[in-house]
Amino acid sequence: MNILALLKARFQPVLESMSADVAPLLEMIRPAGDPKFGDYQANFAMGLAKKVGKNPRDLATEIVAATSLEDLCEPPEVAGPGFINLKLRDDWLQMQLSAAQADTRVGVEKAAESKTYIVDYSSPNVAKPMHVGHIRSTVIGDSLCRTLKFMGHNAISDNHLGDWGTQFGMIIYGYKNFVDQDAYKAAPVPELSRIYRVVRSLMDYFDAKNALPKLIEKLAERTAEYETAKNAPETSDKAEAKKQKKEVGRLQSQIKELNEEIEATKEKVAKTDDSPQLAKLAAEHANISTAVLQETAKLHAGDEENLALWKEFLPFCEDEIKRVYERLNVTFDHQLGESFYHDRLAAVVEDFEKRGLAKESEGATCVFLEGFKAPMIIRKRDGAFLYSTTDLATIAYRMETWKPDAILYVVDFRQGDHFDKLFAATRLWGYTDIELKHVSFGTVMGDDGKPFKTRSGDTVGLEGLLDEAVSRAYKIVQDAGAAGGDALEESQQKAVAETVGIAALKYGDLSQNRESDYKFSYDKMLALNGNTSTYMQYAYARVQSIFRKGEVDIDALRTSGAKIVLGHPAERQLALAILRFSEALDDVLVDYRPNYLTNYLFDQLAKSYSGFFENCPVLKAETEEQKNSRLLLCDLTARVIQQGLGLLGIQTVEKM
Ligand code: ARG
Repeated sequence: MNILALLKARFQPVLESMSADVAPLLEMIRPAGDPKFGDYQANFAMGLAKKVGKNPRDLATEIVAATSLEDLCEPPEVAGPGFINLKLRDDWLQMQLSAAQADTRVGVEKAAESKTYIVDYSSPNVAKPMHVGHIRSTVIGDSLCRTLKFMGHNAISDNHLGDWGTQFGMIIYGYKNFVDQDAYKAAPVPELSRIYRVVRSLMDYFDAKNALPKLIEKLAERTAEYETAKNAPETSDKAEAKKQKKEVGRLQSQIKELNEEIEATKEKVAKTDDSPQLAKLAAEHANISTAVLQETAKLHAGDEENLALWKEFLPFCEDEIKRVYERLNVTFDHQLGESFYHDRLAAVVEDFEKRGLAKESEGATCVFLEGFKAPMIIRKRDGAFLYSTTDLATIAYRMETWKPDAILYVVDFRQGDHFDKLFAATRLWGYTDIELKHVSFGTVMGDDGKPFKTRSGDTVGLEGLLDEAVSRAYKIVQDAGAAGGDALEESQQKAVAETVGIAALKYGDLSQNRESDYKFSYDKMLALNGNTSTYMQYAYARVQSIFRKGEVDIDALRTSGAKIVLGHPAERQLALAILRFSEALDDVLVDYRPNYLTNYLFDQLAKSYSGFFENCPVLKAETEEQKNSRLLLCDLTARVIQQGLGLLGIQTVEKM
């Protein structure tokens, strides 16, 4: 049962008799912003009245009279210029609560139409350590999959691993040149990471070295421009003078930025140059960047040695990420990485050429797309295929295999242009009947307002992040115990800390508007107050502790025939919040935004529960009926929290 959908369905036939386009009118039925105006409000009468040439209040009254609402609402009130205020009947709410209570889905119906979704998420480039950015894709994608499945859709998760790219050229080159065989035999993964880091730092060194003259040249240009702008003849035209001043300021700040960049680049270069050891290494591998590309190209061309190395390394890389997924409690239906599509790429390019959709330009094969300045390159001049080519092959494969209605890509906003082009090319290719969606997300920032890094400047490894969250959660759990909370054994405290710590990290991410950058803060995400998983888990555990304290057998009470009776306004408000879970899930799926679920859990459910808890004694209720009714309300609240957190990929704990 979904209250909003039900109200819309009741108004729909009446509105259809008055307008050909009812969808926007139905959109104007919404939860009331202020309980003064009831539970829901319908605001379509004003707009519709203009169209049909009637007085809006009269029209509202007419619509209300024609709509069958008696069983679920109190007599509606027409207010102000024609607002329709709807208040649900208490007996109806009570009936819905009974139904929700008896339902394992706490009253949430599946979607009327089940669709097939492919959700492409996490998708790290293996052989490099996973970092904080991957957490966003992983937890958002996982939560969307869980929500889609819960709503009755066929959601297929596919981890499109980057398992075929330059990073393998890097470790192949590193292995051939730097491996410590004993270390590798003893523990392959750390040795491969070490090798990767050596190659990475050498490549970074040469990149920095090459970039330096260009940066210096740019600085000289800007400085000259600045001199010219500063010495421009004075003008009496105010607007012109303002423009000149602005230009001087703009150049000044560009110069400042360039100077900073040059300093940082110089530092990077000096780090190697000043170390005899590193300088020697760099001299020995002066052509490393080209060599890495060659190793990659050899792998792609099927070179036996490189292919054998790749096959040897890949399982190690997969084990690495598997460990993280296990801790995050994330699984995938499929894990078809880039390598899986390798031998399909030539056919994709041929097909584009055959259909006249791709053209040669400067030796490369390009797809020119309307509305884009640069074409999408699908084969480079040297014959190499690209990320885009693989993505096209992937779409074709997914269409053949699963015939999805939609493919969602949960990927960093920086790839926006790639996906815009990919989707345009896919349509051009003939796949017009599918929803293609880039579920884009922003950057995780540090305290300094720059992308989150550790002190040493490396992007933060995901595992270190999980460990830190868990160890801070452990402290919270210990403190709670010391402050007289539910007593937990040491081993239980550890287990609870793992759940609470991982949850905080996930919820901290999922509760953000996914398109915004957000500041990473352990303190904020583990706070016991506010919109955090810790708070939600605590609310859940608090209900369980009421049951323990009152020695309530909640399973027995559920089936005892005891009923929820709404007496106090705080009870009614909580009941309404419980019954609006379904609306929150609909909201999540409109534009794939899990933060609508966290908002619901905190702003509606948890806040109403607090209000209820403050105003309505449970174990000390006045009568046995009232006590049972309130216990059942507590139970439903806890179940919705548990289900809601479950859809975010977060577990509850019985005590904390
Ligand atoms: N491996 C890519 C990266 O780390 C993300 C892949 C996203 N999925 C896709 N089908 N392109 O940047």
